[in-house]
Amino acid sequence: MALHRTSRDAGTSQDFLTTRPQFARAGEVQPIPRLRLPDTEMDADTAFQVVHDELILDGSSRLNLATFVTTWMDPQAERLMALTLDKNMVDKDEYPQTAELELRCVHMIADLWNAPQSEAATGTSTVGSSEAVMLGGLALHRKWRARQAAAGKPTDRPNFVTGINVQVAWEKAARYWDIELRTAPMAEGRLHLTADEAVKLVDENTIGVIAVLGSTFDGSYEPVKEISDALDKLQAETGLDVPIHVDGASGGFVAPFLDPDLEWDFRVPRVRSINASGHKYGLVYPGVGWVIWRDSSDLPEDLVFHVNYLGGDMPTFALNFSRPGSQVVAQYYNLIRLGHTGYRRIHQASRDTAMHLSEGIDAMGSFRLLSRGDELPVFSFALKDDVKNFTVYDLAAKLRERGWLVPSYSLPADLEDTHVIRLVIRNGFSRDMADILLTDIAAAVSYFDGLSGPMPHDPAHTPSFHH
Ligand SMILES: Cc1ncc(COP(=O)(O)O)c(C=O)c1O
Repeated sequence: MALHRTSRDAGTSQDFLTTRPQFARAGEVQPIPRLRLPDTEMDADTAFQVVHDELILDGSSRLNLATFVTTWMDPQAERLMALTLDKNMVDKDEYPQTAELELRCVHMIADLWNAPQSEAATGTSTVGSSEAVMLGGLALHRKWRARQAAAGKPTDRPNFVTGINVQVAWEKAARYWDIELRTAPMAEGRLHLTADEAVKLVDENTIGVIAVLGSTFDGSYEPVKEISDALDKLQAETGLDVPIHVDGASGGFVAPFLDPDLEWDFRVPRVRSINASGHKYGLVYPGVGWVIWRDSSDLPEDLVFHVNYLGGDMPTFALNFSRPGSQVVAQYYNLIRLGHTGYRRIHQASRDTAMHLSEGIDAMGSFRLLSRGDELPVFSFALKDDVKNFTVYDLAAKLRERGWLVPSYSLPADLEDTHVIRLVIRNGFSRDMADILLTDIAAAVSYFDGLSGPMPHDPAHTPSFHH
């Protein structure tokens, strides 16, 4: 049994895949078992075609408005990636130039996030933000444990303080590292962590407050500076000195270009570490992420392993050992190819498109915007209360007829009766595509409005594509 959902075709009488006649070569064993390793080999072209033909059933990634992850890169980047698919990122002695590019990326990103001494930046690439979050959380825990132990205080009940909108990566970090996750609830008009709510949950066992830039649910930025100011006040009153980790999975590569005056990064002294996904608005195909510590002292040395069996001394702080080097190469390509102006142009275009879409949706009259796409180029909307003929799940299903993949889901606890659609606008989603989507949404609404009563409840129309 695989960990993912049961095979769609489990239970059919077809235990074998079929091969199209023109690819079935004489002498080859024809039936290809679905869930068992075939006994014999087959021709590479046949195997290619079988796999290729099956994958055409996947949706088109460019029409996938659920994902934050890059779905278009320059052909030149694709060539570089193809040329480096054989590079293992961990073999830093064998591939010193790939390692050098990773180091340059760390410096560039630390500088982008205003690290005070970017020339001494401490950080690493990861598989994505989830691994970066695991590492960031681990470092916060070790630092807190050392502080508590030095003060002769208990170290058995650490907690993170976050908003309930926090991405599942933090729930995993909490569960895997045995740390309590203290979540501030959502309320009408407050869809993410605020300074007041954060401070209410902090105590001497808080290893860090996690501020998200921006929220997975609606694309809004959490107020990092305000949270920091509130924690300064708390420190003045109680002596508690609580660090902030910024989960900039998406915003870490948006805010520096579009909101340069927003203080969310290492300009705020309490921000000790930041993660971002290179494969989201860093514009690289999956999977690459980054985590940077403000200062080498924020990364306890006992978490760094030194191995010598690849030749030379190689420090590593990662959950994986082997992982692909090509994504790091592609990140470096993007950084030098685009620079500040390129990233700004691309993300501004995405933000403009997101706001154009949200305005268009707002103007239709059936929807209530929860955000506008003016922070991350991401926004969500719900149905107005008087809309009775359809649900967001019906709308998502109707849009799928045209190929659009839009996520529909309910908000977390306390707002679980609010059902939304969220649209993530990325590089490669043009204004023209936005206009076509608006036309398709309007056509769907008019179809539903033309029904004599509410759509019958279809159990297939349930939360979908939610990340
Ligand atoms: C705020 C936030 N943190 C963490 C993650 C996990 O990132 P990754 O998919 O790069 O592991 C996501 C993914 O959407 C996210 O939005």
